[in-house]
Amino acid sequence: MDYHDLCKQARKAKANAYAPYSKFRVGAALLSDSGRVFPGNNVENSSYSLTVCAERVAVFTAVAEGERHFRAIAIASDDSGFTPPCGACRQVLFEMAGDIDVVMSNSKGEIEIVRLRSLLPEPFTPKHLRRSRKQRA
Ligand code: THU
Repeated sequence: MDYHDLCKQARKAKANAYAPYSKFRVGAALLSDSGRVFPGNNVENSSYSLTVCAERVAVFTAVAEGERHFRAIAIASDDSGFTPPCGACRQVLFEMAGDIDVVMSNSKGEIEIVRLRSLLPEPFTPKHLRRSRKQRA
C-alpha cells in the first residue's frame, strides 16, 4: 500500500480522537504484512495518565484481532509539523511490530519516513527478561 494512502487512513482515524483535555487529536493506521490496516486514535481520560495514544490503540486492536506481522504505521495530527510516536508507543510498537517504517504526516499532507529502530536505539526486549531469569536460576 502507498504510504500516502496509509496517511489518509490515519487522518480518517483522527476523526474519532477523544481529546477534550489536550485538544491534540491524533490518528494512526497500522499496516500488517497481510495488507490489513488497523486504525487507532487517542483516547484521553479525566484521570489524565490513563490516556492511551493513537498508536497503541492501533497496535492493541491489531494484536487483539490475531495479527502479529506488521510493515508500517502512519501517524497524523493537526500540527503543521510531524508528530513522532511517544516513548511508550515506541517501546510497545517495537515489541509487537519490530523495526517497521514510521510514516509521519503533517497538516500540509507532507510525509516523513523513519525506521522505528532509529527512534528507539536500545529497546528493552523479551530477551533481557530471559537473560535475567537465567542468572537468577
Ligand atoms: N498522542 C498520541 O496519541 N500519539 C502521539 O504520537 C503523541 C501524543 C496523544 C496523547 C494525548 O492524548 C495527546 O496526544 C497529547 O499528548
